[in-house]
Amino acid sequence: MGEEILRVENLKKYFPLEKSFVEKILSRQRRYVRAVDGISFSIRRGEIFTLAGETGSGKTTVGRLILRLIDPTDGKIFFDDKDITNLKGEALRELRRKMQPIFQDPYSSLNPRMKVGEAIKHPVEIHGIAGGEEARSLVLEILEKVGLTPPEKFYELYPKDLSGGQRQRVAIARAMIIKPEFIVADEAVSMIDVSLKAAILELMLSFRKELDLTYLFITHELAVAKYISDRIGVMYLGKIVEIAPTSKIFENPIHPYTKALIAAIPVPNPRRKKKFILKGEVPVAPIDIPSGCRFHPRCPLATDKCRRNEPELEEIENNHYIACWLSEEN
Ligand SMILES: Nc1ncnc2c1ncn2[C@@H]1O[C@H](COP(=O)(O)OP(=O)(O)OP(=O)(O)O)[C@@H](O)[C@H]1O
Ligand SMILES: [Mg+2]
Repeated sequence: MGEEILRVENLKKYFPLEKSFVEKILSRQRRYVRAVDGISFSIRRGEIFTLAGETGSGKTTVGRLILRLIDPTDGKIFFDDKDITNLKGEALRELRRKMQPIFQDPYSSLNPRMKVGEAIKHPVEIHGIAGGEEARSLVLEILEKVGLTPPEKFYELYPKDLSGGQRQRVAIARAMIIKPEFIVADEAVSMIDVSLKAAILELMLSFRKELDLTYLFITHELAVAKYISDRIGVMYLGKIVEIAPTSKIFENPIHPYTKALIAAIPVPNPRRKKKFILKGEVPVAPIDIPSGCRFHPRCPLATDKCRRNEPELEEIENNHYIACWLSEEN
């Protein structure tokens, strides 16, 4: 694994809430959804780093911040040692050449009136990589690579002519054709039929080798995270609660939230030992964040200290980071 390619420091994104009528009359202060509430991590070149966690934990918002689709409320983002936190204009366009997204629903990101071939060619042209026949042959080549064959036929089709899996192959082709260095793949296989998930993941892995790619993978499916990742960061209500290599996350999870997520993965063996059960439910949105450790209302092990003080993410052993007071006692 190479040197660091991406680093975020104390990254935050607060979305302002619309004030209700009553709040306006009482001129109450604006309230915020604290979607991402101060997270720090780094990714090494060639690595597949996954952000996992339940719905609403802030994973997509982190991905959008890193892609510079939205501006952070606070914190910094570094790519290749350059501060990209406030990139705009031409500099941002250059970054796009190196950093590409693959989203969950390719149907909504593909123009229904544009032929598949044209859609894949678009980034080649806007980044001035090639034009005319040369661009077309690059498209045919990549169509073949993503398994849409014969490529001449798929070039002429429209998104509506394709299955979900084929559309995701188009989205992958469109991201890979400009040979990026870094991919943000947000729930890239979540809508893909179970029988096809592994094939699409393998396709992404094949580009990793060919292009020496680095991935930020985002998924709420732990089985997918386990299959693909080198390291996993677990998010809860806008914070990272645990970061570790994939094998440690699954074999030796330490944070009670990670333990609960792993215990909740369905297993074929019904006699597996008792599950680690959580109290309560995920708050609908991180508006009124609990005091102290924000996980404490659901944690079966919470103490007074957890209710009062917020734990920081700390390295408790080599490469294993936890934000939990209890880990100090273990
Ligand atoms: N543009 C926005 N305006 C207001 N709130 C937002 C906005 N985008 C996200 N949120 C809120 O921020 C929180 C985190 O959302 P986010 O989409 O990042 O979570 P997620 O972990 O990706 O969830 P999922 O697994 O469902 O995709 C949620 O409470 C969400 O409602
Ligand atoms: Mg999401």
